Amino acid sequence: MSNIKITAAITAVGGYVPEDKLTNFDLEKMVDTNDEWIRTRTGISERRILKGEGMATSDMVVPAVRQLCEKRGISPEEIDCLIVGTVTPDMVFPSTANVACDKLGAKNAWGFDVSAACSGFLYSLTQGAALIESGRYKKVVVCGADKMSAIVDYTDRATCIIFGDGAAAVLLEPNEDGTGIQDSILKSDGSGCQFLHMKAGGSKKPASIETVMAREHFAYQEGQAVFKFAVKGMADVSAELLERNGLTGDDIAWLVPHQANLRIIDATANRMGLPKEKVMINIQKYGNTTAATIPLCLWEWESQLKKGDNIVLAAFGGGFTWGATWLKWSY
Ligand code: UT7
Repeated sequence: MSNIKITAAITAVGGYVPEDKLTNFDLEKMVDTNDEWIRTRTGISERRILKGEGMATSDMVVPAVRQLCEKRGISPEEIDCLIVGTVTPDMVFPSTANVACDKLGAKNAWGFDVSAACSGFLYSLTQGAALIESGRYKKVVVCGADKMSAIVDYTDRATCIIFGDGAAAVLLEPNEDGTGIQDSILKSDGSGCQFLHMKAGGSKKPASIETVMAREHFAYQEGQAVFKFAVKGMADVSAELLERNGLTGDDIAWLVPHQANLRIIDATANRMGLPKEKVMINIQKYGNTTAATIPLCLWEWESQLKKGDNIVLAAFGGGFTWGATWLKWSY
């Protein structure tokens, strides 16, 4: 047996954002808000919205994964497993991964969804990496995808300004040159549920006329409380990850933070001692796409990444769930 350690390397990235834009000026016509407030409090100028009867999260997963396969020159039939981080699955069941595999023609893949809200991509990536490191799987696709417009209340100015739709995916393959996923710290605290959740539609409170009338099928968020936990949680876990690996801000080429609020991103970068030029930020264009924010950044910055770059991914979201992952870029 070889003693060479197998790491899970990202070998391709694909992404998809819907064409339709919802700008701050559009929102000004829908709720009592204004462009200046939204930009200064969140950093967001516009978001993408998936429109069309019956269009669902899997319809964003599919083009993202197709693009990834084309870039890598593989057929969807070569995918062993598809993991989709999402809180807006096409249906409660079956999983969006199942539906997407069928649409993709990924006939040899199994798959499942991971429900970890804004940390969905990091949770899924850690799981995908473990499948590769085990030696049992050669091609695992990890996707973060959310159609947040399906669960956003466009009469609630505190939440509707934040969220958007999108999907992006990475291909994980075994690698022996030392690059790839290096370490990951993931956390969860269910007591945070009270601040960010969807009240109805689950087994606790199934859908009824009353739940619909009470607008309980939308994302409910106590923004200020989440903000406080997010600033501390994302910065703390990123600092912990650097420390336990003997890294400092100087060693890091890129921080890829979850895009929830520019002020949370700034706090995390400051704590890690990173200048703004090393931080991927596209919140102004896409808003908070929940599980899709981090892979969408990798997708957009892909051409600027160099083999061996130390990259830290960091997220905080509903659950609460949060975490950080350190990887070395592989191509
Ligand atoms: O990704 C998952 C995790 N989620 C997050 O990380 C989100 C964390 N939270 C946030 O990003 C921020 O809390 C928000 C962007 C949601 C809100 O920003 P804030 O600075 O915390 O605002 P606030 O809720 O403290 O509200 C301040 C004021 C209030 O008015 P009064 O009571 O001071 O008169 C709000 O009613 O701003 C008002 N307000 C608005 N005004 C104009 C709230 N929403 C809006 C709005 N436009 N859209």
